[in-house]
Amino acid sequence: MEVVILEDEAQVGRAGADAIAEHVRRDPAAVLGLATGSTPLAIYRELADRVGRGELSLARCRAFLLDEYVGLPPGHPESYRAVIDREFVDLVDIDPAHVLSPDCGATDLPGACATYEQAIAAAGGVDVQLLGVGSDGHIAFNEPGSSLVSRTRVKTLTPQTRRDNARFFGGDIDAVPRHCVTQGIGTILDARHLVLVALGPAKAEAVHQLVEGPVSARWPASALQMHAHVTVLLDEAAADRLHLKNYYRETYLGKLSWQGF
Ligand code: GLP
Repeated sequence: MEVVILEDEAQVGRAGADAIAEHVRRDPAAVLGLATGSTPLAIYRELADRVGRGELSLARCRAFLLDEYVGLPPGHPESYRAVIDREFVDLVDIDPAHVLSPDCGATDLPGACATYEQAIAAAGGVDVQLLGVGSDGHIAFNEPGSSLVSRTRVKTLTPQTRRDNARFFGGDIDAVPRHCVTQGIGTILDARHLVLVALGPAKAEAVHQLVEGPVSARWPASALQMHAHVTVLLDEAAADRLHLKNYYRETYLGKLSWQGF
């Protein structure tokens, strides 16, 4: 696991975009894993700028979302599909038809989960997966207690996550859905490269647990310790509780010139 501590959100945005661009340079038809939430927005803006300047093209890429709320009416502006369209898909040159999300309008939700797993497998798996982290350590919507080998399925959100996400629903926790469909931790760990991003002091404990804590369903993001290629991009505040902070800084500064992400 590579832990990169950067000064601010703008630097994190550039580093995250660099990590994705490296994959697209190697394979212009790379499969991208997209995350919602506020943390990846700087990365999406940076990617959009690079596409706008003609430095990068995502035209041949395909993409999969991590998760989606259950119970929002179709087209709701806070559905993750609407958010990713607004914040990313509409700003770059990826074909919207090649961006897939779990079908939470399906009457057979378990069937829709299995179909989603099959679609990811049929695309050849995800090359680079962006991840945020919840203040309770969740990745995607794998809340504490999630199986570390879980696949895409329906989950119930914790009160903490619903409180955290109420800001997107006018501050009204009752407007935040109780259920979601989320890629499982096992699904996420199948991606070839994981890029987890965290900003701000509210994420500091989750970051400490995921990087330095025991692997445990109590902090689902700690499962990333079992993956061979993980990049963790942090601002100073999110890195604040890391015990080995100085070692991570020294390692990053001393990287060999040919080493990318
Ligand atoms: C949500 C999403 C996660 C995201 C997390 C953190 O619940 N399902 O994918 O990583 O919250 O969100 P934010 O980046 O807004 O703090």
